[in-house]
Amino acid sequence: MMNVLPKDLVERCKKRMEPYNCEGFVYGRGPENPEIMIVGEAPGETEIHNGIPFSGRAGKVLDEFFDYLGVSREDIYFTSTVRSRPYKIVPKKAGPNGEFTEKKYNRAPNVKEQTAHAPIVDYEIQHINPKQIVTLGNIGLQRLLGKKYKISEVHGQLLQAPVRQLKNMETNEWTLSEKEYSIFPTFHPASIFYNRSLLEKVYEDLDELKKILKRDTKG
Ligand code: URA
Repeated sequence: MMNVLPKDLVERCKKRMEPYNCEGFVYGRGPENPEIMIVGEAPGETEIHNGIPFSGRAGKVLDEFFDYLGVSREDIYFTSTVRSRPYKIVPKKAGPNGEFTEKKYNRAPNVKEQTAHAPIVDYEIQHINPKQIVTLGNIGLQRLLGKKYKISEVHGQLLQAPVRQLKNMETNEWTLSEKEYSIFPTFHPASIFYNRSLLEKVYEDLDELKKILKRDTKG
């Protein structure tokens, strides 16, 4: 199942994102009723070119996590807090005469951008019906559970909780879902590039997640 999103919802969310420095649009990908739904941060340059979530550098690390878990990509639904690439433009010296060019760098999506695309994640969670949601990093975690949750404090813990949903697209008010979801936060694979010591923590989290998934399949 490639795309469950209604066209008008996508068009509306693309419009909501227009004021911000975000480019491209990557659809979620994966089956309905998956073992796992991954909620990431935002696509990067690779993803907006090929349309495949987590196909860049962070995706390679994520694939190693799935190998370790023994879960195939086909059993996972991939989405992220925003579906466009947030960027910043930084002037860069280039060439023999030191002339300036501009280069686009990835950055984390801010709250306004997260709110612009919030109806997409809401729709996916409600219609894809994942057994287990795995959030990556603070952005995915806080998008679903709010700012009082910090990845450094709750990573590797199974949380049963309602998730934040955008209540009103005009006023951008939030509410909580009636249903409780099973949410397992861990670090974002890209954070390993900046802090290698997180890798050990991620593998401890994955050991925990392995136990949870086993328990679930046993019923
Ligand atoms: N990070 C994300 O959250 N999503 C991607 O698709 C790539 C990197």
